[in-house]
Amino acid sequence: MKTVDIDRRSFIAKLGGAAAVLTMAPELLAEELEDEMIRELDNSFQQETPQQQETEDRPEPTHRRGTGRVFTNMKELPPLPDKPTFIDFFNARFAPGRHVLQSANHAVETGQPERTIFACLVHDVVQGLVRCDHGYWGAQLFAPYVDERVSWGIRYHQALRFFPDDEVGYAYPEMYNRIFGKDYEVEDYIKRDYDMVRNHKWYMESRLITVNDQYGFVPGYEPSIEPFIDIIGRQFKQPKEGLGYDNSPSAHMWRTLQNPDRPL
Ligand SMILES: [Fe+2]
Ligand SMILES: [Fe+2]
Repeated sequence: MKTVDIDRRSFIAKLGGAAAVLTMAPELLAEELEDEMIRELDNSFQQETPQQQETEDRPEPTHRRGTGRVFTNMKELPPLPDKPTFIDFFNARFAPGRHVLQSANHAVETGQPERTIFACLVHDVVQGLVRCDHGYWGAQLFAPYVDERVSWGIRYHQALRFFPDDEVGYAYPEMYNRIFGKDYEVEDYIKRDYDMVRNHKWYMESRLITVNDQYGFVPGYEPSIEPFIDIIGRQFKQPKEGLGYDNSPSAHMWRTLQNPDRPL
């Protein structure tokens, strides 16, 4: 399978060099790599759409230690309607979304349940807002609007990506060995969550996200959101007030996505 490739040297240089990388928590390093892969996927497209241009125009984020990378600045963004829907957010904030669209498309092609297809479609979109611990943040963003198994799956895909499962065709990513080194060890909370999830009845909800995730970095392959519109309609409980204005536990996160630069 054709997939994006990350050059170890330039990746480390972007993070401030080998000495800086040594001070980084292992999970932060993993989050940086996932973000870099998505960025690289977008860069692999020759033909520029306005939205792609926007992605590429985003400044390289500066690396902040200690505070994590919460609320990374986004460039000027198209306005959203008064009562924005999930599709509005997808088009105006998560686009081009190639990685999640490719992952969801693989789930469709391999005949996976609709719930899994939808989970794949949204599993990483929170990265437009928050890039550290993206599984946990993503789960909270979606929890009020989706089947509990979907948000559960999103939450734990972050941990499962480090643990192989031969039975379903998920190997430890070779790229992790190459970029992080063979002695890379996950943090305790990741290991703890994995141990819990491995024996949980919903294990596959999360595992299938990681399986499809592997097929979401194909250069030059541009799936559309269109075939997923009906699935979104069935899987996402759209609040009538519009996302951000329904007073749900994650409404503030949608408001921040809508207007990430508002200071107060
Ligand atoms: Fe992810
Ligand atoms: Fe992913």
